[in-house]
Amino acid sequence: MNRQLILLSALTLTLLASCSGKPSGDGSASADSVKFVTTQDGSAMEIKSELFDTPAAKEFLATGKNTYIGNADAVTAGKKLFQMYSCTQCHGGDAGGQTGPSLHGPDFKYAKDATNKGMFETIWHGTNGGMGAKGKGLMDPSDPSNGLMPDEVLKIQAWVRSHNEKLTGNE
Ligand code: HEC
Repeated sequence: MNRQLILLSALTLTLLASCSGKPSGDGSASADSVKFVTTQDGSAMEIKSELFDTPAAKEFLATGKNTYIGNADAVTAGKKLFQMYSCTQCHGGDAGGQTGPSLHGPDFKYAKDATNKGMFETIWHGTNGGMGAKGKGLMDPSDPSNGLMPDEVLKIQAWVRSHNEKLTGNE
């Protein structure tokens, strides 16, 4: 083997070795973050990690726990958002049900809505039975800026859960 060929194979080996390492800094969610699935059929659902832009939202992405539950300011903010996004029109002013079901629990049409991760997925991506997707970019496909940020969904949840002290959703 001539010298050039030896150098070339060494280089190839180095390149191969450096490719087998873990990808880093590509902006995707890290391995220890929550894996979201749709309520429609349980298929994987990608939510850009940069949308989780507050401490509470980052904590939720990492653990699935909603740290706003029981937080009076979050409950107040969530109540406003619940009105602003017309949730009241279908679920009633106190989320006790109207044309849409009560959100107080502990029994839900979709059992996973007893957990904050599950209810987040239902609000974000909607259902097949009349509940539209409310997540950023999904609510109105013609306007990607429309829809709830993850932090806002968590505040709405704080308001919804405030009606049932036995169910925090973080159990
Ligand atoms: C146009 C009426 C309408 C609006 C507006 C609406 N919903 Fe719903 N929602 C429904 C209906 C109908 C269902 C039942 C869906 C089904 O059976 O698949 C539902 C179901 C749900 C569920 C699941 C309940 C369960 O028992 O599993 C949650 C959670 C929910 N809605 C939250 C919200 C929130 C939060 C908002 C506002 C951001 C909202 N909805 C706005 C009609 C609505």
